[in-house]
Amino acid sequence: MDKIKDNLRKTFTEIYGYEGDFRYFFSPGRVNLIGEHTDYNGGHVFPAAIQLGISGIVAQRDDTKIRCYSMNADEGVVEKDLKTLAEPTHTRSWTDYVTGMIQVMQEEGSVIDRGFDLVICGNLPLGSGLSSSACLEVLIGYMLKVLYDPKVTNKQIALFGQRVENEYIGVNSGIMDQFAIAMGEENKALYLDTATLEYEAVPLNMSGYTFVIMNTNKKRELADSKYNERRAECEQALEELQSIVDIQSLGELSPEEFEAYSFIISDPVRKRRAKHAVYENARTSLAVKVLMADKLNLFGLLMNASHESLRFDYEVTGVELDTLVDAARECEGVLGARMTGAGFGGCAIALVRYEYSLIMQEHVKKIYTEKIGYEPSFYEVEFKGGPQEI
Ligand code: GLA
Repeated sequence: MDKIKDNLRKTFTEIYGYEGDFRYFFSPGRVNLIGEHTDYNGGHVFPAAIQLGISGIVAQRDDTKIRCYSMNADEGVVEKDLKTLAEPTHTRSWTDYVTGMIQVMQEEGSVIDRGFDLVICGNLPLGSGLSSSACLEVLIGYMLKVLYDPKVTNKQIALFGQRVENEYIGVNSGIMDQFAIAMGEENKALYLDTATLEYEAVPLNMSGYTFVIMNTNKKRELADSKYNERRAECEQALEELQSIVDIQSLGELSPEEFEAYSFIISDPVRKRRAKHAVYENARTSLAVKVLMADKLNLFGLLMNASHESLRFDYEVTGVELDTLVDAARECEGVLGARMTGAGFGGCAIALVRYEYSLIMQEHVKKIYTEKIGYEPSFYEVEFKGGPQEI
């Protein structure tokens, strides 16, 4: 972290021209191990915070000005003022997450009356299914909590982040990403019931295995609108089911109950969407059980089943993710592989025996590059916990 801090400090003084009373913060990204597209359906998810993330250096000001600079964006210094934040700009700038977070926290009662100068820098690939936006929301939320309102809890930060995503950015995402990041624990994944926000932090005893992230490096196009479309399909299926069974969400149905009632869903595509949500929820609970019983091989098989359901029933994988996953599964030492996050490009993960990881990466790279025309990237995952002052 010292190198990151030096780098941030150097850039800060170059950009803003002064040395100040600096504070440094870090927020991680996340991978979801299983339980995909279940969070906005009242189901379970099983994500974990990872070592890649975004760091920031901040100095508070005496006036109401806010200046933001990202070492990963080419927007230069973006200036705002606390007095005129009320007008949402919808510029699709990374700074929308900063102002969104300030506004939500102000609405919720935090007094944020002094501005600040900020520089951020990340090693989390952006827009790739590792939750770079939730990472940024939580980074800003955590920084604001420490600087202005220490009574705010990490769980609240997660909920505020989701509001920013839904109300300021326009993506109808569930709570998984912000929760996984804000509440992340070292070497644990969170088995979260998204209907109640009750959760259990489950130790990841990897006994010689590791999760490898495989990035398609595909530019994500239309991912947000397709995401919102899937969510709407599930909501419509739920409405149809509610005409014959008393439920609040798809997550309340077991696969058996779904099979008994699903005749009421008139459209076959919508039926498959709902089927995925119900079966994936059941699969997630089972996956956590087998993991706790140290049956990693069964966990791997459930990862495979999850991917197939996302591929054929939910239809959010695409040729890039399928190629990565299929190639990984051909390799020795691999117990399972699946896409992670929203899909439509982004990343997949493979559960692989440690000593086979590099061989697998070579094989996947070869197959993928031949078929897709450009290279994927790989990251070996470490689970390091949630946001912190560094
Ligand atoms: C994105 C969303 C999450 C979740 C996943 C799919 O990451 O932000 O809320 O819906 O997709 O599981």
